[in-house]
Amino acid sequence: MSYRIAINGYGRIGQSVLRALYERGLQHQLQVVALNELSDIETLTYLTRYDTTHGRFPLPVSHDGQHLLINGDKIRVLSIEDPQQLPWAELDVDLVMDCSGSFSNLAQAQKHLDSGAQRLLFSNPASTDIDATVIFGFNHQQLQAEHRVASAASCTTNCLVPVLDLLDRQFGIVNGVTTTVHSAMNDQPVIDSYHRTDLRLTRSALQSIIPVDTGLSKGIDRLLPHLAGRFECLHLRVPTINVSLMDLSINLASDASAQAVNRLMQASSCQGPLQQLMGYTEEAHASVDFNRDPRSVIIDGTQTRVSGQRLLKMICWFDNEWGYANRMLDVTDHWLRLRKIFD
Ligand SMILES: NC(=O)c1ccc[n+]([C@@H]2O[C@H](COP(=O)([O-])OP(=O)(O)OC[C@H]3O[C@@H](n4cnc5c(N)ncnc54)[C@H](OP(=O)(O)O)[C@@H]3O)[C@@H](O)[C@H]2O)c1
Repeated sequence: MSYRIAINGYGRIGQSVLRALYERGLQHQLQVVALNELSDIETLTYLTRYDTTHGRFPLPVSHDGQHLLINGDKIRVLSIEDPQQLPWAELDVDLVMDCSGSFSNLAQAQKHLDSGAQRLLFSNPASTDIDATVIFGFNHQQLQAEHRVASAASCTTNCLVPVLDLLDRQFGIVNGVTTTVHSAMNDQPVIDSYHRTDLRLTRSALQSIIPVDTGLSKGIDRLLPHLAGRFECLHLRVPTINVSLMDLSINLASDASAQAVNRLMQASSCQGPLQQLMGYTEEAHASVDFNRDPRSVIIDGTQTRVSGQRLLKMICWFDNEWGYANRMLDVTDHWLRLRKIFD
């Protein structure tokens, strides 16, 4: 069975989702029928064909003025800011992936549904009144066929939550602090520029390590409610274009060693629900080695330390674009298959 997908917001994540969909050969079961982006079709086609981070698109890409053409597939291109004006009913859209970053609550999602979309999946954390916030491989079973609005959480929670869950089950977690070291994003200027709400987002992404606000501790509270209030989180943007890492410091509830923690992580990467989603390495890596890695998290076993039996320090790598785009596809595929069973 084939489902009809629209991508709203065709920036880093929207483009990564489309490319990953084609690279995985999912274009027949998840047929992308429309892209909505506040730009012109010429630029959108160019940015699909050439990508500094992910390389050239693996198939021929062109346009006919109204459609992006990928290897003969016609994808309608729209440029409409207000979701209530989008032609989702006419296009018979089963699911909108909202990758715009402009929307994050049920009322905003409802506008897409009012326009005729059957479902909406946010590429960012959203308000608590949506149907589900899911991390594929951790809690995606919570999605139900009758759900209408969901979020695939954030790239950082996709990396962190499965790791915290494993540690908590094995050793218990008292509390912890995390620092995300994240590559630059499109909300930062190349050289200093004005920003309406955040002074730190006025500064050049090329020249500095820049601390920015993060909602990660709220994400942990929502996804692991029994650990609510036990984590403080920092986030640093660094001058690289892709791939990030999570630096964890955790007080464990029972004694552990670096070897025992690594054994747990290695075993979980080889078997069980995280098998395809978690990696484990003891090689000497730099961040660029994980560019285009589709997994949610890769544990760097060489950096695991335990101080005084209970203070654990770990480093986890993740491709913030490619890993997350692949999880958006996994969640979409899983959710729409539920509908098939339900229907
Ligand atoms: N990049 C990552 O590593 C990453 C990972 C996981 C999740 N996310 C989340 O995914 C979302 C998008 O991030 P991104 O990095 O892809 O940002 P991005 O590169 O800025 O892409 C967002 C795109 O959506 C467009 N847009 C904004 N409002 C729109 C609207 N009303 N209708 C149609 N298009 C609209 C933007 O156009 P304009 O530029 O003209 O406004 C922009 O091209 C954010 O919430 C982000 O937190 C990002």
